[in-house]
Amino acid sequence: MTTVKISTRGAKRIRLGHLWVYRSDIRDTDEAESGAIVRVVDDARNFVGQAFYSDRSQIALRFLTTRDEAIDREWWRHRLQACAERRAPIAKQTNAYRLVYSEGDLMSSLIVDVYDGHYVLQTLSQGTDRIQDQLLELLVDEFHPQSIVELNDARVRQLEGLELRSGALHGDDPHEIEVVQHGVRFIVSPRASQKTGAFLDQRENYLAARQVAHGRALDCFTFTGGFALHIAESCDNVIGIDISSDAVAAAERNAKLNNAQNVTFRVANVFDALREMETAAERFDTIILDPPAFTKSRETVKSGARGYKEINLRALKLLNPGGVLVTCTCSYHMSEQMFLDIIAGAALDAHRRVQIVEKRGQSSDHPVLLGVPETHYLKCAIVRVVD
Ligand SMILES: C[S@@+](CC[C@H](N)C(=O)[O-])C[C@H]1O[C@@H](n2cnc3c(N)ncnc32)[C@H](O)[C@@H]1O
Repeated sequence: MTTVKISTRGAKRIRLGHLWVYRSDIRDTDEAESGAIVRVVDDARNFVGQAFYSDRSQIALRFLTTRDEAIDREWWRHRLQACAERRAPIAKQTNAYRLVYSEGDLMSSLIVDVYDGHYVLQTLSQGTDRIQDQLLELLVDEFHPQSIVELNDARVRQLEGLELRSGALHGDDPHEIEVVQHGVRFIVSPRASQKTGAFLDQRENYLAARQVAHGRALDCFTFTGGFALHIAESCDNVIGIDISSDAVAAAERNAKLNNAQNVTFRVANVFDALREMETAAERFDTIILDPPAFTKSRETVKSGARGYKEINLRALKLLNPGGVLVTCTCSYHMSEQMFLDIIAGAALDAHRRVQIVEKRGQSSDHPVLLGVPETHYLKCAIVRVVD
């Protein structure tokens, strides 16, 4: 096995619990092959662990283990089985969930989502791309899926020098799959949609929102109606807004599927819609804000913060007393504290007193790995206007 030597700083990062070593901390690659699993040692040649090596990405090493153990087919099988065991309680409640969450499951750069027995696979580094066939065989062997589709068109693959591709790898390509989340039915189209077909990371927040939602509700950035359709049963009526006409068409179809007669959807830019509603003195009892990431790098945090502030400020102004705001950011670069500070600033400017009902994160099938802060990207605050 090839041995890669890293700096003391890189080794310390791993010993403190992270799973990545950047290229600047590589001392000697010993001509490691792209995507190979390598043995990693520190400057003093002490063993650090075993990792995928990438010859292109700035993340040069993605650690799989800090143990000196054989990483063979059975090792991968056990990791997959462990993921499935951890999801067993979730699989009792829904047939749509994330089976493997990359670093969060100690399977760096591997994502596997399940939609009613159809699997969607993403191999996002040279390492997982190289063993994709083996992973495919193991998934078939262990879980007997109806189909496995690869969705390897994510831009991060380009940083690894990998081609973008998607298509069925096992069984027929299921263009549309019906799934059920907590009694709500959705049509999912993995290859013609955002993410892998659904924002599975919000699944548990849908339930939390349902607990507090009431009266007249507005679901901003609704996509295919995830929040809107979950809260419909607790509300008088719900309006869902999204800028994508495809998403709104899918949301309307989902509403019909659930016979949700108190939910309507419209295509609009949320920034404009909130401004117009403020001018028209509209009022709501529940507002959901689940925008796309407004900041995808450290450099754009300030401008991203302005976007979050604007929508939160406008939403707070539209809420009746006792009204509830479910507000989210899926930017890793926006920490929970920064996000709460933005909401506090928005509340001050809106002259509203706001209490925190709950601070939440991504669903538990997207586990946060302590020591790897990048695994914690979704923050969700549920707040209530009390004055
Ligand atoms: C994070 S996703 C929302 C996911 C959704 N809440 C769910 O649970 O399935 C963000 C959505 O915002 C939409 N979007 C992006 N910019 C927008 C804008 N300015 N106005 C309205 N919708 C927008 C995208 O089309 C996308 O569907």
